[in-house]
Amino acid sequence: MNGIQIAIDGPAASGKSTAARLLAQRLGGLYVNTGDMYRTLSRGILDAGVDPVAQPEKVAPLLETWDLRYRRMDDGSLQLFFNGKAVRQEDIRAPEVADVVSHVAKLPEVRQWMLERQRECKSLGTIVMEGRDIGTVILPDATFKFFLTASPEERARRRFLQKGEIPSQANLATVAAQIAERDRIDSSRAVAPLKPAPDARVISTDGMNQEQVLDCLLAIIQEAN
Ligand code: DC
Repeated sequence: MNGIQIAIDGPAASGKSTAARLLAQRLGGLYVNTGDMYRTLSRGILDAGVDPVAQPEKVAPLLETWDLRYRRMDDGSLQLFFNGKAVRQEDIRAPEVADVVSHVAKLPEVRQWMLERQRECKSLGTIVMEGRDIGTVILPDATFKFFLTASPEERARRRFLQKGEIPSQANLATVAAQIAERDRIDSSRAVAPLKPAPDARVISTDGMNQEQVLDCLLAIIQEAN
């Protein structure tokens, strides 16, 4: 399959990252994680000494000179670069980034800036792009659109097991509260809120493992061919 675009949206810890990555591998396509782009920008803002929650007006001027893009590497995979440097997962999965990323992602100037950069990814070939507004805003003509969900309890459990971005003293209840707050901000923002596109297939991943989610998506794609 060449040149197809697959949009995978859904709330935090709904299983979309793993599904998108495995699906891209299976289809021989490229995996684009737009959440990583928002996280990278948030890291850059914090490193520039700006608090995006208290000083949102200081964010737009920073964007004018910043460069964020996915590049194809020699092994065929995509790597995210920020101002010419390869982005490292450990830098963008930190708790302080998780705390501000939804606030950064709701700024209209940020969304417009990202829209241009995310649409550029279409030129890379077959892509599986995951995020919150891919099916609704970034790739409205995507070949397939999926919206993955899971109950708040299951999502909190998954995020808790991932570690990394959660503070060491966190427990299941604090992780659940953080996810709920992130979903609230993402779903209620004025520009490009988290919601399924009218033509998206909504899939509840409760009780499914990663292979089962992948098989479900592949079955829908193969059914259409
Ligand atoms: O998928 P994630 O949890 O890594 O995303 C981090 C944050 O970025 C999340 O709070 C929502 C935001 N985001 C967004 O608003 N739009 C996207 N397309 C992707 C992520």
